[in-house]
Amino acid sequence: MRKILVAGNWKMHGSRAETASLVEGLTAALGDAPVSEVAVCPPFVYLVDAAAALEGSEIRLGAQDLAVEPSGAYTGEIAGTMLRDVGCHFVIVGHSERRSLYGETDGVVAAKYRAAQRDGLVPILCVGETLEEREREVTEAVIERQLRAVLDSAAIASFERAVVAYEPVWAIGTGRTASPEQAQEVHGFIRGILAADDDTIADSVRILYGGSVKPSNAGDLFSMPDVDGGLVGGASLDAGGFAEICRAGG
Ligand code: PGA
Repeated sequence: MRKILVAGNWKMHGSRAETASLVEGLTAALGDAPVSEVAVCPPFVYLVDAAAALEGSEIRLGAQDLAVEPSGAYTGEIAGTMLRDVGCHFVIVGHSERRSLYGETDGVVAAKYRAAQRDGLVPILCVGETLEEREREVTEAVIERQLRAVLDSAAIASFERAVVAYEPVWAIGTGRTASPEQAQEVHGFIRGILAADDDTIADSVRILYGGSVKPSNAGDLFSMPDVDGGLVGGASLDAGGFAEICRAGG
């Protein structure tokens, strides 16, 4: 049985004070026994603070991006080894905002996925179609292309140490959530692609849904057979609401 994973993507929000109160609020709201596996992904500069505040808690730490290179003259970049060093377990790779705003191609995303694993992190690999692509009915082709780029560059065995997140771009930050059935359809498709390479790995890999997840829709989404949790943006910035989403996976 796959354990539900709920990860909070804080994006470029917050301050030191807000990070502290968010982590404190979340640990208090979840209590000693979080029912789901939970992770928070603050901006780079707040990771150290968040790691200290999370000490002794079951909540894991993640970053939102990493460099392809392990170290060197790459001004402004952050290496996976550094993220490990400050206590990260996860790193988000290929978020649609990185793809669309910062020009990350499928090839770059695949290289970051491999770099994450090389550096001892578990990548949360994001895939998803735009509204225009959904309307053109090429959703499956887009998802397959994004996934295939990673499968071709890192073998199926790598998915034993990875998480996939399906994030339809039209649902991110828009308040417009995919219906549980729409999410299930794509999640099943993703699992099917992985299963063509290895049934057992496909069955165990967690596929999260992301895009306007909130307390009111999390339960219905997480109850779908191939939806194994959520990657939560806006709603993860409210400790009480985020804890409610985490409990929806219990
Ligand atoms: P959202 O963002 O929950 O605010 O839609 C999700 C994400 O971008 O990971």
